[in-house]
Amino acid sequence: MTSFRSVRLAKRPTGLPSADTWSIDTQELPELAPGEFAIAIEQISLDPAMRGWLDDRPSYLPPVEIGAIMRAGSLGKIMESKNSRFPVGSQVVGNFGATEIAISNGQGARIFNPELAPASTFLGALGMTGMTAYFGFFELGKPRAGDVVVVSAAAGAVGSIVGQLAKINGCTVIGIAGGKEKCDYVTKELGFDLCLDYKQDTSMRKQLGEALKQLGAKGVDIYFDNVGGEILNANLAYLSFGARVVICGAISQYNATEITPGPSNYMNLLVKRASMKGFLVFDYESEFSVAQRRIGTWLAQGKITAPETIISGDITEFPATLNRLFSGDNIGKLTLKIN
Ligand SMILES: NC(=O)c1ccc[n+]([C@@H]2O[C@H](COP(=O)([O-])OP(=O)(O)OC[C@H]3O[C@@H](n4cnc5c(N)ncnc54)[C@H](OP(=O)(O)O)[C@@H]3O)[C@@H](O)[C@H]2O)c1
Repeated sequence: MTSFRSVRLAKRPTGLPSADTWSIDTQELPELAPGEFAIAIEQISLDPAMRGWLDDRPSYLPPVEIGAIMRAGSLGKIMESKNSRFPVGSQVVGNFGATEIAISNGQGARIFNPELAPASTFLGALGMTGMTAYFGFFELGKPRAGDVVVVSAAAGAVGSIVGQLAKINGCTVIGIAGGKEKCDYVTKELGFDLCLDYKQDTSMRKQLGEALKQLGAKGVDIYFDNVGGEILNANLAYLSFGARVVICGAISQYNATEITPGPSNYMNLLVKRASMKGFLVFDYESEFSVAQRRIGTWLAQGKITAPETIISGDITEFPATLNRLFSGDNIGKLTLKIN
């Protein structure tokens, strides 16, 4: 018999997930039913949204049940199959969970060609986070050449791609990230025009005002928000006429234990006839192949770099790896590579 380990939700966390949020169990691989296949998981995606899935409150997906295997995007190789569309040996990506072996009936699973790009790219730039950057930026940001684009969590999986898409489209890009190392990375390696370090003492409102002045810009045309809170509020203060604020995420609030105040500068949306709109990447699923082809071409041409932080370990490293997202201990797409 083959046995495997999985990470399960043991207890709903308050604030940052801790060791007692999780349990690790071992089970035997059962006999596959017709139409099923088993995947030896090789790499697991870590996503800030996972924190929201642990809370029992209405959202775009039901919460992960106590005792259930943690929901996660992952990829691996098919080791057994009773499904002719998913033969043994194929590499597949899908929502297989935080587990060493997953059983799938093929729903939401996709065979990928590892010769086109390193496998991890299918969780990052060619996967969910790349799609998020692409559709959030193009569909909601509606960029025009010359626009001033600000993106927060700029060194992260989504933010790093958004800024590069903006450069390809002739925009001026200001990133916002935590720390000098990340800011240097996004300007020197990814080609952003400026990067503001929100962890330094000067307020974001002051830093952003000075940055716009330095660029001779009238204001922010597109603000791509990954973090919410004070950084969102500072951007609202500098909107240009007709600006687009893209609400992608609000990681600064995901572990909050108290109600967080709303952005006080929101009336500037009225003054500047600006819009602020949220989106969910899964709403664009039917168009993913177009975006994957375009991003794939830019990657191949060297016009886009897809930064990644790959942690090698076993499945028990999942909880600590997830928390790296909240301490900012990643550049680009964070994944756990299963040894
Ligand atoms: N709408 C959608 O469909 C969709 C889909 C995917 C992702 N998202 C959202 O997109 C955002 C980015 O996700 P990602 O996967 O690309 O993660 P990521 O940016 O690779 O990692 C998260 C980053 O957030 C920053 N961060 C953590 N705590 C913060 C805080 N308190 N204030 C400011 N920044 C903080 C950290 O960077 P620093 O070191 O710079 O602080 C960290 O590296 C998240 O909000 C996520 O929920 C939305």
